[in-house]
Amino acid sequence: MYDGEAIWSKVDDYFVDRLVNEDDALVAARESSARTVMPQADVSPTQGAFLSVVARIAGARRVLEFGTLAGYSTIWLARAVGPAGRVVTFEIDPATAVVAEENLRRAGVADRVELVVGPALESVRALVEASVEPFDLVFIDADKPSNPAYLEAAVALSRPGTVIIGDNVVRNGAVADPDSSDPRVHGTWGLIDMLGQDDRIEATALQTVGVKGWDGFAIGVVR
Ligand code: DHB
Ligand code: MG
Repeated sequence: MYDGEAIWSKVDDYFVDRLVNEDDALVAARESSARTVMPQADVSPTQGAFLSVVARIAGARRVLEFGTLAGYSTIWLARAVGPAGRVVTFEIDPATAVVAEENLRRAGVADRVELVVGPALESVRALVEASVEPFDLVFIDADKPSNPAYLEAAVALSRPGTVIIGDNVVRNGAVADPDSSDPRVHGTWGLIDMLGQDDRIEATALQTVGVKGWDGFAIGVVR
């Protein structure tokens, strides 16, 4: 472990104390992460608040999320879209979805969230085939090898101005290791290359440190 990690967490604690208003429902959702299929893979409090700020800047009313887990980021996004908004979120694991439903109910946002249980690629293809209304913001945070396919579907469900955010694009620096054999890194490369090469999207990526270690977000906007 890099020595700086302890201080990254302290700085996160400092910002959380002063900036991030987590109510009991958000705390409960975060703590229930242990009961999901991927404990500890939820976004951090400052990152959840970041997603909410971006959603509000974008005036998002319709949000699509790949990867629900306990619903921690889902709650942040659902609150950001307001009572008339809608969040569609995909979770592959049925037992994890039960945990998420409980958290969404406790947070008072169950009525504005559609939790779709199953492989996200199948679920999103159904939305594309149904030509649903475009989404205002898409958060891609599920299995990383599928990221290129998720991005392609996200663009198909977008309109000019749609914000697309991808989580975990740094992975402790592994993204810059050309010899990586990790399929999650390969999925990230696909996502980044597509974002860079697709003239329909303007994008960048930002590294983050904090209670979740060293990672980062890709963020783009459809032109
Ligand atoms: C992993 C996935 C995540 O969404 C995350 O935030 C952290 C780790 C993973 O696949 O290892
Ligand atoms: Mg993630």
